[in-house]
Amino acid sequence: MKTENVTIGMFGLGTVGSGVAELLNRQGAELEKKYGVAIKLKRIVVRNVNKPRLIQLEPKLLSDNPNDILNDKEINTVIEVMGGVEPACTYTLRALKQNKNVITANKAVLAVKGTEVFRQAIKSGRYLGFRAAVTGFQDIIERLSSAISINNMAGIFNGTCNYILTQMQEHQQEMEPILKQAQDLGYAEEDPSLDIDGYDTADKLAILCILAFGCAVTREDIFTEGIRNITLEDIKFAANLNYRIKLLGIASYENNRLEARVHPCLVPRNNLLSRLEGVENGIQINDELRGKGAFTAPGAGKYPTACAIMSDIINIARGSQIYFPHKIKRIPLKSMAALESAYYLRLNALNESGVLEKIAAVFRRNDINIMSVLQQKTARPKQNKRGLLVPLVIIVDKSKEKNIQKAVGHLQALDVIEGAVSLIRVEERLW
Ligand SMILES: NC(=O)c1ccc[n+]([C@@H]2O[C@H](COP(=O)([O-])OP(=O)(O)OC[C@H]3O[C@@H](n4cnc5c(N)ncnc54)[C@H](OP(=O)(O)O)[C@@H]3O)[C@@H](O)[C@H]2O)c1
Repeated sequence: MKTENVTIGMFGLGTVGSGVAELLNRQGAELEKKYGVAIKLKRIVVRNVNKPRLIQLEPKLLSDNPNDILNDKEINTVIEVMGGVEPACTYTLRALKQNKNVITANKAVLAVKGTEVFRQAIKSGRYLGFRAAVTGFQDIIERLSSAISINNMAGIFNGTCNYILTQMQEHQQEMEPILKQAQDLGYAEEDPSLDIDGYDTADKLAILCILAFGCAVTREDIFTEGIRNITLEDIKFAANLNYRIKLLGIASYENNRLEARVHPCLVPRNNLLSRLEGVENGIQINDELRGKGAFTAPGAGKYPTACAIMSDIINIARGSQIYFPHKIKRIPLKSMAALESAYYLRLNALNESGVLEKIAAVFRRNDINIMSVLQQKTARPKQNKRGLLVPLVIIVDKSKEKNIQKAVGHLQALDVIEGAVSLIRVEERLW
C-alpha cells in the first residue's frame, strides 16, 4: 500500500473515541515527524453535538451528519467507535466502498457481518484495522491470519467477567455485590448481559475463528453460556480442587470440522489463563507447525482500546497492509452434543444413607465414570422437609456432553436431590 497522509473522520466520541482524540492531540505531531505523513482528525460524527464532552475540541469538528465523513473526499480513513450493529455496519461498508480505510473497535459488526466487511475491504483494497475489536492483543491479528496450521485456541476475552470471577475468589463474595462494584468502577455496563452472559466473548471468538481458520462464523453459531450461575460455593470448591473458574472462548479445527464454544470452565490453577487477574485478557494458541504461543492484553478500557486504534493508524501511515483470509468458507460446526470433556457437578443432596448409591447409579446408567466426590461442611447447612442437605461436588472423567446432560436431568429428578444441578466443564487440555 502506498504511504499517504492520514485524514481521519471518526464516528463516536464516547469512552474510546475521546481516548483516540486525546492521543491524536498528544501524539499526532510526533507521529507525523516519525512517519513523514500528516495525520489529521478532520471530523467527528456523534448523535448529539450539544452533549457536554470529556475532551475539549473545536466545535466545528463535530457533526451529527454521517455524510460529512462519508462524502468528504479528503477523508481517507474512518474510525468507527460508535458501537451497535446498525447504522455502524452500513457506515463501515459505505466507507470501504468509497475507498476509505476503516479502523473499527466494533466487535458486534464483525461478529454479525464480518464476512461481508472483510470481502468489501478485499474488493476495495483498503486497510481494515480491527485489533481494538479483539481485545487489543498486540500482534494477534498478524499471528492468526498468517498461520496455516492452528489446531486450537482458548482465551479469556472479556475483562468484566474475569474481574468479577477474580474478585469473587479474592474477597470470598457472591457475584451480586462485585457486579455492582464493577458497574461503579465503569468496568461493567448498566445492562451487563452482553458481558456476563458470554455474548461479548462469543463475538470476539467469531472474529478470531475467521482469522485463524478462514471459516465464516457468526455469534449465533457459537454455543454460549455465561457466568451468571457461578456461585461463591463453586469458586471455593474449584479452589479446593486446584482449579480456577474462568469464562473461556474455545475453538478448534480438525478434519474440516470447527468447534467453537463459550462457557465457564474449571482451569488448572497453574495454567496461564488461570493466573490472569482482574480485567486482563489472554489467549493460548496451539499451532501444529509453529508450536504453542500465548498472548496477554490489558483488557478493555479507554486507553488500551485507543492505543490499539493508534497502532492501526500507524500501520496506515507506514503503508502496511493487514492480512485476513481472502476466501472465507462455510463449514459445519461440531454440535455441542458431540463434545467430550471432564465435568464438575455441584448438587445439594439429602444427608442420609443410600444417597450416594442412587447418584452413582445415574452416572453408571449414562456411561459416565466418577473421578472424585467432595463433600464440604458448611457453617449454615440448608434443609428441606426431609432433613439436612449437603453440598456435593462430583468430578467425572472425560464423557460425552449428551450423556452428561441426560445424567443431569436424571439427577434433578431424584427425590434425594434438591434444586438445580450446576454443571461446569473442566478444561484440562490447556497447557
Ligand atoms: N469501552 C471500551 O472499553 C471498549 C473496548 C473495546 C471495544 N469497544 C467498542 O468500541 C465501540 C465504542 O465503545 P464506547 O465504550 O466508546 O461507546 P460509548 O461510550 O457509548 O460511545 C459511543 C459514541 O458513539 C456515538 N453514537 C452512537 N450511536 C450513534 C449514531 N447512530 N450516530 C452517530 N453517533 C453515534 C455516541 O454519540 P453521543 O456521544 O452524542 O451519544 C458516542 O459518542 C463499541 O463498538 C465497543 O464495543 C469499547
